[in-house]
Amino acid sequence: FTVKNTSVSESCPSNIALIKYWGKYKDQIPANPSISFTLNHCKTNTEIEFLADEPFSVQTFLAGNEESKFAEKIEKYFKNIEQYLPWILKGKYIIRTENTFPHSSGIASSASGFGAVAKCLMKLDECFSFDMQDPTYITRKASFLARLGSGSACRSLYDGLVVWGATDEVEGSSDLFAVKYSDAEIHPVFKNFNDWVLLIHEGVKSVSSTVGHGLMNTNPYAERRFQEARENFVPMKKILKSGNMEDFIKLVEHEALTLHAMMMMSEPAFILMKTGTLEVINKIWDFRRETGLPLFFTLDAGANVHLLFPNDGSEEQIKSFIESELLQYSQNNGVVKDVMKW
Ligand code: PMV
Repeated sequence: FTVKNTSVSESCPSNIALIKYWGKYKDQIPANPSISFTLNHCKTNTEIEFLADEPFSVQTFLAGNEESKFAEKIEKYFKNIEQYLPWILKGKYIIRTENTFPHSSGIASSASGFGAVAKCLMKLDECFSFDMQDPTYITRKASFLARLGSGSACRSLYDGLVVWGATDEVEGSSDLFAVKYSDAEIHPVFKNFNDWVLLIHEGVKSVSSTVGHGLMNTNPYAERRFQEARENFVPMKKILKSGNMEDFIKLVEHEALTLHAMMMMSEPAFILMKTGTLEVINKIWDFRRETGLPLFFTLDAGANVHLLFPNDGSEEQIKSFIESELLQYSQNNGVVKDVMKW
């Protein structure tokens, strides 16, 4: 291969897990399989300028501002993946990146961020190597590379429902990269889904997900949790096929609460939910009891609440409930209205 000055840009959406990944082994191997859906509007746009005649270094700009911490992270990441992209340490990188969702809103940018970087790297790889590669291989390798940056990022490379982690329930699934969950196995009700993210707490989390994953190594409930996540693929598969909303809601909320229960049972324990998170959860449960409408939640490793509901005709009442009853719990009335990318 020959390397030359070039510039590439890519965009990658964020994703939200339904069965959560929490706990990992060496080399970013997940302790259990996970499934997520990819979002449509929450994205990272990244441009990489590659200067072939300069010694290896990385300069990064986040929304126009130079960020040396991020550059250090990327530099380490590039060194780590040299074995998969032999040209990678042969030049200078100027990386400009911006998120379409509010900065420091607590919406995880690592999934879309590493997804976008990995896509850019595969574009550079295409410029530098002469062999034509098929698009399936390129996406799979991008997913593989994104995983090494941030585990959940490997799921952002595909639209729709995406599985990462080997499970007998999903053919072709792997610990090394994510695969798309077969569209044919998904009931239409799940193909038009809302995810409104209530921004309960904007700012930096008290415990990073890296530290959180690490604490699973000494969590006495970890093995049971990993087993449960594996088992949850069995009902999840049935639910996705049948469209059973009641069972879907139960499973997705259980997964979210289990993630946070694991945090509370870590040593040292930590809690990422805030008062507003709990208020919103209780309001959602009251609303469901009173109306029977399919509004439910999931949580990331943070205080924000992802409000999930289908676009099936029942959403007007749900939307007005969110606006009138739930927005008050978000900082600056902030809500990011997203939908599943299909
Ligand atoms: O990709 P990481 O290392 O930031 O871990 C994220 C884990 C969760 O978002 C909490 C769950 C998931 O499966 O995305």
